[in-house]
Amino acid sequence: MTRQQAEEKLRKYGQEQIFRYYDELSVEDQEKLLAQIDQTDFSIIDHLNKDQESAQRGAFAPLACMELDEIREKKEAFEQDGIGALKQGKVAALLLAGGMGTRLGSDAPKGTYDIGLTKHVYIFERQIQNLLEVVKPLDVWPMLFIMTSEKNHEATVGFLKEHAYFGYPEERIAFFQQDMAPACDDNGKVYLEEKGRIATSPNGNAGWYTSLIKAGLDQVLKDEGIEWINIFAVDNVLQRILDPVFIGACLQAQVSVGAKVVRKAAPDEKVGVICLEDGKPSIVEYYELSQEMMDAKNEKGDPAYNFGVILNYLFHLPELDEVVEKGTPLHVVRKKIPCLNEAGELVKPETENGYKFEQLVLDLIHQLDSCLPFEVVREKEFAPIKNKTGIDSVESARELCKQNGIEL
Ligand code: UTP
Repeated sequence: MTRQQAEEKLRKYGQEQIFRYYDELSVEDQEKLLAQIDQTDFSIIDHLNKDQESAQRGAFAPLACMELDEIREKKEAFEQDGIGALKQGKVAALLLAGGMGTRLGSDAPKGTYDIGLTKHVYIFERQIQNLLEVVKPLDVWPMLFIMTSEKNHEATVGFLKEHAYFGYPEERIAFFQQDMAPACDDNGKVYLEEKGRIATSPNGNAGWYTSLIKAGLDQVLKDEGIEWINIFAVDNVLQRILDPVFIGACLQAQVSVGAKVVRKAAPDEKVGVICLEDGKPSIVEYYELSQEMMDAKNEKGDPAYNFGVILNYLFHLPELDEVVEKGTPLHVVRKKIPCLNEAGELVKPETENGYKFEQLVLDLIHQLDSCLPFEVVREKEFAPIKNKTGIDSVESARELCKQNGIEL
């Protein structure tokens, strides 16, 4: 893109401030900025005004969950089918590690965080251990896809290589980067994070499938005959990945997606609750739950909206192919965005100073026709690390690891 073309594009979107320091930059940095302007979709900033409309939700209704009793009863049959699918190479795992992990407050990728007390126990190590527990005894080596972002790719790849991928075969791992989105101030003006660089952030975790395809990895899916992908968050250090019982249950139910869920600890617990919205699977955020929904009971007399998602889903790819073509909605999220101030110096704000744009995996679920919520024992499979202390923290996860006999 030439200087003139870049100026025209910025004018079209009212983002001329991006060129403020252009003449001070080296030729190399000027070229980099032109390339970034060329690649950036500024039209998403229009969503600042549209967000109110997209926040309108449909009619919610309960979605029956497969609960522990039923799973225990059918465990062997599910497990056999799950193992069969793993042995036939039909299932792959995909680690969502493109997030910024800002709440944890570390600049390094979240997976490199050490939760050990007497020895090193890295978050990535816990995830790979969880995976090895399933696949090693079966001697099957499903593909492990790892999604990073421009902000943490090199650090993530370097760290895992340095630790010999914690025992997972290197040739069965494929990294890919997700897309980035520009971040803007309250007036919709895109920030700079360097004099020659637009402030960007990862575009949310829903882009995993399109980014995987963009990276050319759909060829691997085809070559290996992969039909299902188990996506999981980087921060739940207890989760079971490629769980054969879960896989078998989804296969038998013939659903488009399976969602691991936990029984809520309290009616107002801050987790997204799985339900139906206008007849399609959906996730309702805790702040959207009305008192009526919190009080509603199912035919067994249990709370009707009682299961929270833990970001561990098994997607059936043929149905996903159909929905990704339609695209997922964009969420406008208020965040703290490091940016250049008036004096051209980088500042890390203490309070929220603007907006990021994200596509969320829960919108992918809502576009599919069927979902199996699959209950797991909370104390055994849910130890998310979002913060340093308090709820969903390094402290609470350490406690849960200890309860599960994991040495730290
Ligand atoms: P979170 O919603 O916890 O976001 O991500 P985060 O960015 O990691 O953390 P905060 O909010 O800044 O503290 C849930 C999962 O989705 C992944 C994260 O890496 C994590 O595994 N994720 C999130 C992505 O892969 N890409 C994104 O753009 C956002």
